[in-house]
Amino acid sequence: MPEVVTTVAELRQAIARLRPARIGMVPTMGALHAGHVSLVTAAREQCDHVVVSIFVNPTQFAPNEDFDAYPRTLEADLARLGEMAAIVFAPTAREMYPDGFATTITVGGPSAGLETDFRPHFFAGVATVVAKLLLAASPDIAVFGEKDYQQLLVVRRLARDLALPARIIGAPTLREPDGLALSSRNAYLSPPQRQIAGRLNVILKEAIIRARQGNLWAAEDAATRALLDSGFDSVDYVAIRDAESLAEIHDRRRPMRILAAAKIGKTRLIDNMAV
Ligand code: PAJ
Repeated sequence: MPEVVTTVAELRQAIARLRPARIGMVPTMGALHAGHVSLVTAAREQCDHVVVSIFVNPTQFAPNEDFDAYPRTLEADLARLGEMAAIVFAPTAREMYPDGFATTITVGGPSAGLETDFRPHFFAGVATVVAKLLLAASPDIAVFGEKDYQQLLVVRRLARDLALPARIIGAPTLREPDGLALSSRNAYLSPPQRQIAGRLNVILKEAIIRARQGNLWAAEDAATRALLDSGFDSVDYVAIRDAESLAEIHDRRRPMRILAAAKIGKTRLIDNMAV
Protein backbone atom coordinates (compact mmCIF):
# COMPACT_ATOMS: atom_id res chain seq x y z
CA MET A 1 0.00 0.00 0.00
CA PRO A 2 1.21 3.55 -0.60
CA GLU A 3 2.23 5.81 2.27
CA VAL A 4 -0.62 8.28 2.79
CA VAL A 5 0.29 11.86 3.64
CA THR A 6 -2.15 14.71 4.15
CA THR A 7 -0.05 17.86 4.51
CA VAL A 8 2.35 19.60 2.14
CA ALA A 9 5.08 19.39 4.79
CA GLU A 10 4.66 15.59 5.11
CA LEU A 11 4.59 15.23 1.33
CA ARG A 12 7.87 17.12 0.99
CA GLN A 13 9.48 14.98 3.71
CA ALA A 14 8.26 11.72 2.16
CA ILE A 15 9.57 12.74 -1.26
CA ALA A 16 12.89 13.94 0.18
CA ARG A 17 13.37 10.42 1.63
CA LEU A 18 12.99 8.92 -1.85
CA ARG A 19 15.46 11.28 -3.52
CA PRO A 20 17.67 11.22 -5.54
CA ALA A 21 15.38 8.72 -7.29
CA ARG A 22 13.25 10.03 -10.19
CA ILE A 23 9.72 10.89 -9.07
CA GLY A 24 6.58 10.97 -11.21
CA MET A 25 3.31 12.58 -10.14
CA VAL A 26 -0.28 11.77 -11.18
CA PRO A 27 -2.82 14.35 -9.95
CA THR A 28 -6.36 12.95 -9.58
CA MET A 29 -9.65 13.54 -7.81
CA GLY A 30 -9.84 9.88 -6.76
CA ALA A 31 -12.60 7.37 -7.57
CA LEU A 32 -9.75 5.74 -9.42
CA HIS A 33 -10.45 3.61 -12.48
CA ALA A 34 -8.26 1.86 -15.05
CA GLY A 35 -7.74 5.17 -16.89
CA HIS A 36 -6.08 6.71 -13.84
CA VAL A 37 -4.06 3.53 -13.32
CA SER A 38 -2.79 3.76 -16.92
CA LEU A 39 -1.35 7.19 -16.04
CA VAL A 40 0.41 5.67 -13.02
CA THR A 41 1.81 2.95 -15.27
CA ALA A 42 3.02 5.58 -17.75
CA ALA A 43 4.70 7.49 -14.89
CA ARG A 44 6.36 4.33 -13.61
CA GLU A 45 7.85 3.64 -17.02
CA GLN A 46 9.86 6.85 -16.72
CA CYS A 47 10.41 7.09 -12.96
CA ASP A 48 11.49 5.10 -9.93
CA HIS A 49 8.56 6.16 -7.73
CA VAL A 50 5.11 7.62 -8.31
CA VAL A 51 3.15 10.07 -6.15
CA VAL A 52 -0.61 10.09 -6.73
CA SER A 53 -2.61 13.02 -5.37
CA ILE A 54 -6.26 12.46 -4.50
CA PHE A 55 -8.15 15.68 -3.91
CA VAL A 56 -11.66 16.62 -5.01
CA ASN A 57 -10.81 20.24 -5.73
CA PRO A 58 -13.70 22.51 -4.72
CA THR A 59 -12.53 25.51 -6.76
CA GLN A 60 -13.03 23.75 -10.10
CA PHE A 61 -16.71 23.01 -9.38
CA ALA A 62 -19.42 25.67 -9.81
CA PRO A 63 -22.13 25.80 -7.12
CA ASN A 64 -24.59 24.01 -9.44
CA GLU A 65 -22.12 21.19 -10.23
CA ASP A 66 -21.55 17.78 -8.65
CA PHE A 67 -18.94 18.60 -5.95
CA ASP A 68 -21.00 17.03 -3.13
CA ALA A 69 -22.05 14.01 -5.20
CA TYR A 70 -18.56 13.38 -6.61
CA PRO A 71 -17.54 9.86 -5.53
CA ARG A 72 -15.03 9.67 -2.66
CA THR A 73 -13.53 6.18 -2.31
CA LEU A 74 -10.13 6.60 -0.63
CA GLU A 75 -9.84 3.06 0.80
CA ALA A 76 -10.69 1.43 -2.54
CA ASP A 77 -8.33 3.87 -4.31
CA LEU A 78 -5.44 2.88 -2.04
CA ALA A 79 -6.15 -0.83 -2.58
CA ARG A 80 -6.28 -0.29 -6.35
CA LEU A 81 -2.93 1.50 -6.35
CA GLY A 82 -1.32 -1.24 -4.23
CA GLU A 83 2.42 -1.21 -4.79
CA MET A 84 2.21 0.96 -7.91
CA ALA A 85 2.37 4.25 -6.02
CA ALA A 86 4.90 5.00 -3.29
CA ILE A 87 2.98 7.95 -1.87
CA VAL A 88 -0.63 9.13 -1.93
CA PHE A 89 -1.15 12.81 -1.12
CA ALA A 90 -4.72 13.19 0.15
CA PRO A 91 -4.97 16.69 1.64
CA THR A 92 -8.00 18.32 3.23
CA ALA A 93 -9.57 21.36 1.60
CA ARG A 94 -8.24 23.41 4.52
CA GLU A 95 -4.68 22.25 3.79
CA MET A 96 -4.92 23.26 0.12
CA TYR A 97 -6.94 26.42 0.77
CA PRO A 98 -5.85 27.82 4.13
CA ASP A 99 -8.01 30.43 5.83
CA GLY A 100 -8.02 33.63 3.84
CA PHE A 101 -6.75 31.97 0.64
CA ALA A 102 -6.66 34.74 -1.97
CA THR A 103 -4.49 33.61 -4.89
CA THR A 104 -5.83 32.37 -8.21
CA ILE A 105 -3.95 31.50 -11.37
CA THR A 106 -5.67 32.27 -14.65
CA VAL A 107 -4.32 30.81 -17.85
CA GLY A 108 -5.15 32.39 -21.23
CA GLY A 109 -4.32 30.74 -24.56
CA PRO A 110 -5.75 27.21 -24.72
CA SER A 111 -8.25 27.81 -21.90
CA ALA A 112 -10.31 30.13 -24.14
CA GLY A 113 -13.60 28.70 -25.42
CA LEU A 114 -14.89 25.08 -25.37
CA GLU A 115 -15.05 24.05 -21.66
CA THR A 116 -14.69 27.70 -20.58
CA ASP A 117 -17.87 28.65 -22.47
CA PHE A 118 -19.83 26.25 -20.24
CA ARG A 119 -17.68 26.09 -17.09
CA PRO A 120 -16.10 29.57 -16.84
CA HIS A 121 -14.69 28.90 -13.37
CA PHE A 122 -13.10 25.59 -14.31
CA PHE A 123 -9.57 26.22 -15.57
CA ALA A 124 -8.68 28.79 -12.91
CA GLY A 125 -9.56 26.14 -10.32
CA VAL A 126 -7.55 23.48 -12.15
CA ALA A 127 -4.54 25.73 -12.79
CA THR A 128 -4.39 26.92 -9.19
CA VAL A 129 -4.58 23.44 -7.69
CA VAL A 130 -2.20 21.88 -10.23
CA ALA A 131 0.35 24.65 -9.61
CA LYS A 132 0.07 24.01 -5.86
CA LEU A 133 0.44 20.24 -6.30
CA LEU A 134 3.47 20.51 -8.57
CA LEU A 135 5.13 23.10 -6.33
CA ALA A 136 4.48 20.93 -3.29
CA ALA A 137 5.89 17.74 -4.82
CA SER A 138 8.47 19.07 -7.32
CA PRO A 139 8.29 15.83 -9.33
CA ASP A 140 10.49 15.16 -12.36
CA ILE A 141 7.43 14.50 -14.50
CA ALA A 142 3.66 14.83 -14.09
CA VAL A 143 1.26 12.76 -16.21
CA PHE A 144 -2.12 14.03 -17.43
CA GLY A 145 -4.68 12.25 -19.61
CA GLU A 146 -5.63 13.23 -23.15
CA LYS A 147 -9.18 12.40 -21.98
CA ASP A 148 -9.26 15.99 -20.69
CA TYR A 149 -7.48 17.38 -23.73
CA GLN A 150 -8.08 21.08 -23.12
CA GLN A 151 -6.95 20.60 -19.50
CA LEU A 152 -3.74 18.93 -20.72
CA LEU A 153 -2.97 21.91 -22.97
CA VAL A 154 -3.79 24.38 -20.19
CA VAL A 155 -1.48 22.52 -17.79
CA ARG A 156 1.32 22.45 -20.36
CA ARG A 157 0.94 26.22 -20.85
CA LEU A 158 0.83 26.80 -17.07
CA ALA A 159 3.94 24.69 -16.44
CA ARG A 160 5.89 26.43 -19.18
CA ASP A 161 4.78 29.95 -18.25
CA LEU A 162 5.50 29.58 -14.53
CA ALA A 163 8.52 27.29 -15.04
CA LEU A 164 6.90 24.78 -12.71
CA PRO A 165 9.28 22.05 -11.58
CA ALA A 166 7.88 19.18 -13.68
CA ARG A 167 7.89 18.01 -17.27
CA ILE A 168 4.26 17.50 -18.39
CA ILE A 169 3.50 14.18 -20.12
CA GLY A 170 0.23 13.44 -21.96
CA ALA A 171 -1.13 9.88 -21.93
CA PRO A 172 -3.78 8.30 -24.21
CA THR A 173 -7.42 7.80 -23.25
CA LEU A 174 -8.40 4.40 -21.90
CA ARG A 175 -11.80 3.20 -23.14
CA GLU A 176 -14.45 0.57 -22.44
CA PRO A 177 -14.97 -2.17 -25.04
CA ASP A 178 -17.65 -0.05 -26.78
CA GLY A 179 -15.27 2.91 -26.89
CA LEU A 180 -16.73 4.96 -24.04
CA ALA A 181 -13.87 6.82 -22.35
CA LEU A 182 -13.46 5.69 -18.75
CA SER A 183 -14.59 8.43 -16.36
CA SER A 184 -15.52 8.63 -12.69
CA ARG A 185 -18.74 10.30 -13.85
CA ASN A 186 -19.81 7.18 -15.81
CA ALA A 187 -20.90 5.83 -12.41
CA TYR A 188 -23.82 8.29 -12.52
CA LEU A 189 -25.31 6.65 -15.64
CA SER A 190 -28.31 4.29 -15.47
CA PRO A 191 -28.09 1.23 -17.78
CA PRO A 192 -30.12 2.90 -20.58
CA GLN A 193 -28.06 6.08 -20.23
CA ARG A 194 -24.88 4.00 -20.36
CA GLN A 195 -26.02 2.65 -23.76
CA ILE A 196 -26.47 6.18 -25.07
CA ALA A 197 -23.09 7.24 -23.67
CA GLY A 198 -21.41 4.60 -25.83
CA ARG A 199 -22.51 6.47 -28.96
CA LEU A 200 -20.36 9.55 -28.26
CA ASN A 201 -17.07 8.02 -29.39
CA VAL A 202 -18.68 6.38 -32.43
CA ILE A 203 -20.21 9.68 -33.54
CA LEU A 204 -16.86 11.45 -33.16
CA LYS A 205 -15.18 8.80 -35.32
CA GLU A 206 -17.86 9.29 -37.99
CA ALA A 207 -17.33 13.06 -37.78
CA ILE A 208 -13.59 12.57 -38.33
CA ILE A 209 -14.27 10.66 -41.56
CA ARG A 210 -16.66 13.38 -42.70
CA ALA A 211 -14.21 16.15 -41.77
CA ARG A 212 -11.41 14.53 -43.76
CA GLN A 213 -13.69 14.35 -46.79
CA GLY A 214 -14.99 17.90 -46.72
CA ASN A 215 -16.46 20.68 -44.70
CA LEU A 216 -15.46 20.89 -41.03
CA TRP A 217 -18.54 22.84 -39.99
CA ALA A 218 -20.83 20.28 -41.68
CA ALA A 219 -19.04 17.48 -39.81
CA GLU A 220 -19.50 19.26 -36.47
CA ASP A 221 -23.15 19.96 -37.23
CA ALA A 222 -23.90 16.38 -38.29
CA ALA A 223 -22.26 15.06 -35.11
CA THR A 224 -24.34 17.41 -32.95
CA ARG A 225 -27.54 16.19 -34.59
CA ALA A 226 -26.45 12.54 -34.32
CA LEU A 227 -25.83 12.98 -30.56
CA LEU A 228 -29.30 14.43 -30.02
CA ASP A 229 -30.85 11.68 -32.19
CA SER A 230 -29.00 9.04 -30.12
CA GLY A 231 -30.60 10.26 -26.88
CA PHE A 232 -28.22 12.91 -25.53
CA ASP A 233 -30.34 15.61 -23.92
CA SER A 234 -28.09 18.52 -24.88
CA VAL A 235 -24.82 19.15 -26.68
CA ASP A 236 -22.51 21.82 -25.28
CA TYR A 237 -20.13 21.67 -28.25
CA VAL A 238 -18.67 19.56 -31.00
CA ALA A 239 -15.63 21.40 -32.33
CA ILE A 240 -12.73 20.67 -34.63
CA ARG A 241 -9.76 22.76 -33.56
CA ASP A 242 -6.02 23.14 -33.97
CA ALA A 243 -4.58 20.28 -31.91
CA GLU A 244 -1.83 22.42 -30.39
CA SER A 245 -3.53 25.77 -29.73
CA LEU A 246 -7.25 24.83 -29.84
CA ALA A 247 -7.68 27.85 -32.13
CA GLU A 248 -10.21 27.73 -34.98
CA ILE A 249 -8.86 25.99 -38.07
CA HIS A 250 -7.22 28.21 -40.70
CA ASP A 251 -4.73 25.74 -42.12
CA ARG A 252 -5.99 22.18 -42.61
CA ARG A 253 -2.45 20.83 -42.98
CA ARG A 254 -1.82 21.36 -39.26
CA PRO A 255 -2.79 18.62 -36.73
CA MET A 256 -6.47 18.87 -35.78
CA ARG A 257 -8.49 17.55 -32.84
CA ILE A 258 -12.22 17.00 -32.49
CA LEU A 259 -13.59 17.76 -29.01
CA ALA A 260 -17.11 17.32 -27.65
CA ALA A 261 -19.16 17.77 -24.50
CA ALA A 262 -22.75 16.58 -24.15
CA LYS A 263 -25.20 15.79 -21.40
CA ILE A 264 -27.35 12.76 -20.65
CA GLY A 265 -29.73 13.80 -17.90
CA LYS A 266 -27.53 15.61 -15.39
CA THR A 267 -24.37 13.76 -16.39
CA ARG A 268 -21.95 15.69 -18.58
CA LEU A 269 -19.59 13.62 -20.72
CA ILE A 270 -16.57 14.85 -22.67
CA ASP A 271 -14.43 13.13 -25.28
CA ASN A 272 -11.90 14.02 -27.98
CA MET A 273 -9.81 12.41 -30.70
CA ALA A 274 -7.10 13.27 -33.22
CA VAL A 275 -8.64 14.10 -36.63
P1 PAJ B 1 -9.60 13.40 -12.64
O1 PAJ B 1 -10.85 13.63 -13.40
O2 PAJ B 1 -9.61 12.50 -11.47
O3 PAJ B 1 -8.54 12.88 -13.65
C1 PAJ B 1 -7.20 12.66 -13.24
C2 PAJ B 1 -6.36 12.38 -14.48
O4 PAJ B 1 -6.82 11.17 -15.09
C3 PAJ B 1 -6.49 13.50 -15.55
O5 PAJ B 1 -5.20 13.77 -16.09
C4 PAJ B 1 -7.41 12.85 -16.57
O6 PAJ B 1 -7.23 13.35 -17.88
C5 PAJ B 1 -7.00 11.39 -16.46
N1 PAJ B 1 -8.04 10.48 -16.99
C6 PAJ B 1 -9.36 10.48 -16.69
N2 PAJ B 1 -10.01 9.53 -17.41
C7 PAJ B 1 -9.07 8.92 -18.17
C8 PAJ B 1 -9.10 7.87 -19.15
N3 PAJ B 1 -10.23 7.25 -19.48
N4 PAJ B 1 -7.93 7.51 -19.74
C9 PAJ B 1 -6.76 8.14 -19.41
N5 PAJ B 1 -6.66 9.14 -18.51
C10 PAJ B 1 -7.81 9.53 -17.90
O7 PAJ B 1 -8.62 15.81 -14.13
C11 PAJ B 1 -8.74 15.88 -12.92
O8 PAJ B 1 -9.03 14.81 -12.10
C12 PAJ B 1 -8.57 17.20 -12.16
O9 PAJ B 1 -8.99 18.27 -12.99
C13 PAJ B 1 -7.13 17.44 -11.68
C14 PAJ B 1 -6.13 17.54 -12.84
C15 PAJ B 1 -6.69 16.33 -10.70
C16 PAJ B 1 -7.06 18.79 -10.90
O10 PAJ B 1 -7.95 18.79 -9.83
